[in-house]
Amino acid sequence: MTTVLDVQRFKDEHRRFPVLTAYDYLSARILDEAGIPILLVGDSLGMVMLGYPTTLPVTLDGRFLQEAGMHAVKMEGAGPVIEATRRLTELGIPVMGHLGLTPQSVHAMGGFKVQGKGQAQAARILADAKALEQAGAFSIVLEGVPSELGTKVTQALRIPTIGIGAGPGTDGQVLVYHDMLGLTSGKAPKFVKRYANLAEEIGNAAQRFAKDVAGGEFPGPEHEYSANGSAPAPVGEKEEVKYGAG
Ligand code: KIV
Repeated sequence: MTTVLDVQRFKDEHRRFPVLTAYDYLSARILDEAGIPILLVGDSLGMVMLGYPTTLPVTLDGRFLQEAGMHAVKMEGAGPVIEATRRLTELGIPVMGHLGLTPQSVHAMGGFKVQGKGQAQAARILADAKALEQAGAFSIVLEGVPSELGTKVTQALRIPTIGIGAGPGTDGQVLVYHDMLGLTSGKAPKFVKRYANLAEEIGNAAQRFAKDVAGGEFPGPEHEYSANGSAPAPVGEKEEVKYGAG
């Protein structure tokens, strides 16, 4: 189990680390077993799981640490979020900051646009990052900023940064599960690298299933139950009627 202390150690030991989003038990289990040290249950789920055009419809009512077993919370922005970070940290709740392109403020930013391109904006983001660190944040997501700024903020902080569209200079890199696996359709944003094309694989599998059903090839004898026991379960296998492979 990775703790916030481990995340700091990654930075201290100059070890770049991966982070992925996960919104359900199955994907979290697969990623955990693959050795991904940090799983982020982010509000990006509103877009990739629920199909909303922004993350704004996603709400949070504060029971995630107690009831869902989360180890930290992530909060977007600065200003009042800095004081909230201080308060939560004092209460023993680890806080991950989030600066740059903050999707909860998509309308204030005039869309999903790269932030911190001009000098003044870049200086603001750097100052906000330092203030979040000062307030006790254990790490900061930097989203949609020029690579130079990603590197500059990372070098200026003691705590680790986690980049998404922030260039190669951040301590960690995060991608959205569905983007990384090629489950989302259309052209991927520039910062995404697709490591699989699962949308195509799923589509192909569904078509093969449909063809088998239409052609009477599924279910085959190996998928049947019989009333008189003429098709017993193979030795050692329980004849259970449930979903999943257990
Ligand atoms: O909240 C979120 O889902 C995120 C990811 C896009 C990294 O910040």
